[in-house]
Amino acid sequence: MSSKSPHALLALLLCFFCYKMFIGTEEMGRLQSKAIVSSSIEIMHAERMNAEKLLQHKLDNATKACCRKLPSIPTNCYDYCSFDALNTTSIVSLAMNYSPCHLTRDSISAIMSCMTFNHDHTSCCEELNIHKTEAGQKCIDFCKGNLEFGPLMDVTYFPCLEMMEQIMFCYKKHAIETL
Ligand SMILES: *[C@@H]1O[C@H](CO)[C@@H](O)[C@H](O)[C@H]1NC(C)=O
Ligand SMILES: *[C@@H]1O[C@H](CO)[C@@H](O)[C@H](O)[C@H]1NC(C)=O
Repeated sequence: MSSKSPHALLALLLCFFCYKMFIGTEEMGRLQSKAIVSSSIEIMHAERMNAEKLLQHKLDNATKACCRKLPSIPTNCYDYCSFDALNTTSIVSLAMNYSPCHLTRDSISAIMSCMTFNHDHTSCCEELNIHKTEAGQKCIDFCKGNLEFGPLMDVTYFPCLEMMEQIMFCYKKHAIETL
């Protein structure tokens, strides 16, 4: 018994130090991992911002390059050749000729045609019920890729204006997948 006791004491002491060391490193590890997590969140955030900006830049570059090739689009309207600038509100004001740049309805279609990337978006449009306005199948004309020579946005197409957000969503989704 007398020979076992010092061993037991030693073991107990060792255990105690081990425990203290373990707690110490665990605490430090916790602090370190907290720092690592918060800095990688910052990096991820910055990377996401950069990626979004880059994507926006790429999209803008592609749509503007397309617009510059179409003579029906006045040069002072190129600002609208962008997924950020073309939305339901701006399309309505362009169609009503309220915009600072005077587009004919044909050139609105031309700008939108640049957003289609010459792709047929019919299946995306149908999934989003774009054919279910008063204009029926006519609104699918906006989903057919090449719009340069129509739809002309005559009054029969006006119910489609309420679907512009969905139509633009289909264009943008495909554009992002393509770039
Ligand atoms: C911008 O678009 C043009 C024409 O499509 C292309 O040649 C060029 O590589 C693009 N630049 C960038 C930075 O995406
Ligand atoms: C629509 O586009 C215009 C620019 O053409 C912009 O000023 C406006 O904020 C946009 N609206 C929405 C809801 O994105």
